[in-house]
Amino acid sequence: MMHLQTENLTVSFDGFKAVDDVKFAMGVGEVRFLIGPNGAGKTTLLDAICGRVRPTSGQVWFKDFQIQHQSEHEIASRGIGRKFQAPSIFGALTVRQNLEIAAKAPRGVWANVFGRSRADKEKLKTVVEQIGLSGQEEILAGNLAHGAKQWLEIGMLLMQEAELLLFDEPAAGMTDAETTQMGELLLELAKTKSILVVEHDMEFVRRYASKVTVMHAGKIISQGSMEEVSNDPLVAEVYLARQAERK
Ligand SMILES: Nc1ncnc2c1ncn2[C@@H]1O[C@H](COP(=O)(O)OP(=O)(O)OP(=O)(O)O)[C@@H](O)[C@H]1O
Ligand SMILES: [Mg+2]
Repeated sequence: MMHLQTENLTVSFDGFKAVDDVKFAMGVGEVRFLIGPNGAGKTTLLDAICGRVRPTSGQVWFKDFQIQHQSEHEIASRGIGRKFQAPSIFGALTVRQNLEIAAKAPRGVWANVFGRSRADKEKLKTVVEQIGLSGQEEILAGNLAHGAKQWLEIGMLLMQEAELLLFDEPAAGMTDAETTQMGELLLELAKTKSILVVEHDMEFVRRYASKVTVMHAGKIISQGSMEEVSNDPLVAEVYLARQAERK
């Protein structure tokens, strides 16, 4: 089954097509990397999928549901979780409180009366282990290291029971050690989730990507393994050659 699909998806800003007639699909359990030069439309594509911007035309399917007319909130509750570059965590709350707040809402009146259910506590424990923050539950989120803030934000998406995770440059600003941890976490999460990752760090993409989609000027220009897209002359021209010059 396709987990996510778009058809003829266009996002215009005052007539400028940031995303231009995009047909995209990814299957359940895929980790897909989305690369391309600055301004290619990668972030806007994620925005259109998660309901942050309204597509000008075209369709988005999550599983069998058309979601392009739904609100950001509805889309999140259907199971699409978006991770931002600046983590949206509550600095004045503890790690545990952040995770509790993120937990999928309807818990029923009895849960509200008697406190959090055993299932919720179990889930929180599992998530804390997954994101490597065991023992740090009572720390204020604002006092966590940059990397740990990112793990916490991912933990919040897991509490929310997201099935499809959208990550925009997750390794940006990370140390080498944190970048490796992020890559390992992506592979771990991919055992139960689908993940779409925008990334500029080609080392990172090479290490962790199985399939890569390349965008340029609002359009998908290439798709395949990193090896395949690296050998695509158009990709070399618009992106990879320039990336190499930067180093
Ligand atoms: N809200 C907006 N209003 C007007 N133009 C916008 C808006 N958001 C994005 N754009 C434009 O759309 C184009 C695509 O931007 P987008 O942020 O999606 O690119 P990107 O591929 O994520 O780039 P980067 O790698 O630099 O993050 C750019 O030309 C950008 O200036
Ligand atoms: Mg971007």
